[in-house]
Amino acid sequence: MSHQSSLISTDIEGYLAQHERKELLRLLTCGSVDDGKSTLIGRLLYDSKLIYEDQLDAVRKDSKKHGTTGDDFDPALLTDGLKAEREQGITIDVAYRYFSTAKRKFIIADTPGHEQYTRNMATGASTCDLAIILIDARHGVLTQTRRHSFIASLLGIRHVIVAINKMDLVGYEQATFDRIKGDYSEFASRLTLGDVDFIPLCALAGENVVHRSEKMPWYEGSTLMHMLENVHIASDRNLLDLRFPVQLVSRPSPDFRGFQGTVASGTVRPGDEVMVLPSRTRSRVKEIVTADGNLSEATPPFAVTLTLEDEVDVSRGDVIVRPNNEPLMTQYLEAMIVWMAEAPLEPGKTYRVKQLCQTTPGRVADVRYRMDINTLRKMDAETLHLNEIGRCTIELDRAIAFDSYRKNRATGAFVVIDRLTNDTVGAGMAIDRLPQSRLRSDRLAMPDGRKSKNIRVEAGSIQPAERHATLGQRPLTLWFTGLSGSGKSSIARAVERTLHEAGRATFSLDGDNVRFGLNRDLGFSKDDRKENIRRIAEVANLFNEAGLIVLVPVISPYREDRENARGVIGADRFVEIHVDTPLAVCEQRDVKGLYKRARTGEIPDFTGISAPYEAPESPELRLGTESRTIDECARQILDAIEERLKP
Ligand code: ADX
Repeated sequence: MSHQSSLISTDIEGYLAQHERKELLRLLTCGSVDDGKSTLIGRLLYDSKLIYEDQLDAVRKDSKKHGTTGDDFDPALLTDGLKAEREQGITIDVAYRYFSTAKRKFIIADTPGHEQYTRNMATGASTCDLAIILIDARHGVLTQTRRHSFIASLLGIRHVIVAINKMDLVGYEQATFDRIKGDYSEFASRLTLGDVDFIPLCALAGENVVHRSEKMPWYEGSTLMHMLENVHIASDRNLLDLRFPVQLVSRPSPDFRGFQGTVASGTVRPGDEVMVLPSRTRSRVKEIVTADGNLSEATPPFAVTLTLEDEVDVSRGDVIVRPNNEPLMTQYLEAMIVWMAEAPLEPGKTYRVKQLCQTTPGRVADVRYRMDINTLRKMDAETLHLNEIGRCTIELDRAIAFDSYRKNRATGAFVVIDRLTNDTVGAGMAIDRLPQSRLRSDRLAMPDGRKSKNIRVEAGSIQPAERHATLGQRPLTLWFTGLSGSGKSSIARAVERTLHEAGRATFSLDGDNVRFGLNRDLGFSKDDRKENIRRIAEVANLFNEAGLIVLVPVISPYREDRENARGVIGADRFVEIHVDTPLAVCEQRDVKGLYKRARTGEIPDFTGISAPYEAPESPELRLGTESRTIDECARQILDAIEERLKP
């Protein structure tokens, strides 16, 4: 490159080192067909002297032949030229263009401007820091401008530069700039865009691109390049919530087992306690291995291999997280989807949903509404057509770990793929897991064993967040599992009393008590216990939906039943507490005299004696009760859940 070439020739190591340290800005340019996008990109590259000299020569020659600018240099030919190169299968990928200045490195995701190419924007934009939205000064804000801005807001792009281009064609008039700025601001006030800057440009003549324009002295802001070089993006990255999707389990020798992947968000260090999802097994990070040696810390987007202290079972597609900072785990979620295929979305049809490193079969159960881009109104819709954006209910064949897109762009994004053609037909942004109450309103036969198919529950008028605000708390289910006589009910009672006295709204579903009413028809066979737990989980979930903290002391001896309960209630509000009192101690205490009778055979299928108890492998809490009082155990639980109760 002509720029910085002196450093390259005198101190190549120094040049590379300097380049390495530079911060990377990913940006996206969007505009309609003739807004001047190619010209702008060409101008950015040319005026920053970032073009290979030989390329430049070719363009200069071409400009004379095909250019629209007389004998002058036409920057559009530069980018169009690159496009032609790509068509011939040579070197440059037109969708992404890389360049750098002394201050920063840049990747431009260049997306074609025509309406039907909104899809490129949605896929190109998901990793972008900044969007340049181009407006032709003669035409002002168009549908396409609104569409791009809406998508930018949906995609959580934090910085937007509205470039009002072709100012030369409106006599460099401030009034035109101000009017368009006003129109845009009015529309944008209804979106959740981060910071928005406006800049008047003439990309063709290079006014305000890299060099300040003398034609528009009334404009006091900075040039486009200055903005690109200085916009603050370092704090945009999510370094808090560790999400490490495992791409590959590497086992080059019997004594080395590592998990390869890219840190999607958060920070990981050796010694950190981690949890593997979906198995919930815990361990600690032993080493962060890379080809260049071990690291003391890794952040996104580093590709590394993690080794763990323990021999835990991890497979491709699993996600490594921190134990107290978990993503949501669910099969049912709500998401915004941008539809990108000519063929409309078919509710109920099985597509492939790709998120992080895995693909899961899934269906769009329901289109809840479609957004009208111009008015930002929610419209009734049965499906989504090309370029339409709507809120959908999605059911997957198995649970996945995800976050809301707003919280985490890496784990909240997914694409929808057609199973036959393998085409990407939709881009999705997760909003939340689907509340159970809404799950039942879907028109599909979800695999929930429901007999009546033609039912649709009315949506309530109160949102969960409104209930949380009224009650000043977030609901949780504290699920106490353990042998009969282990102390579950006593500890639950102590916890509930303290919560109640602190002004919390609570309710207890004690295994014994429920068997007097709701579950009076059930005994202690494996099937009956399964049904017992299913009903209790459903009721706990309803109370949670009502906003209450629910305490559930039940033996629940089967792991599978407890996992089902977790699914019904939702992993994000299910706290499994193992009251881990040894059988010998429970039998010794024998508070209700049941063990004695079980030993003589008078009570059949008695847990621990003549029926199994499957202890949880990785409960959120394990309470050893032998050497501790009930109050101490209660305190441990209260401390552990305190943060999670805050609304
Ligand atoms: S669970 O296994 O289905 O989860 P649950 O907690 O509802 O059991 O009920 C257990 C209570 O029922 C025990 O506390 C005990 O008092 C009583 N009980 C009566 N028969 C049995 C039995 N065969 N096994 C376990 N508990 C029993």
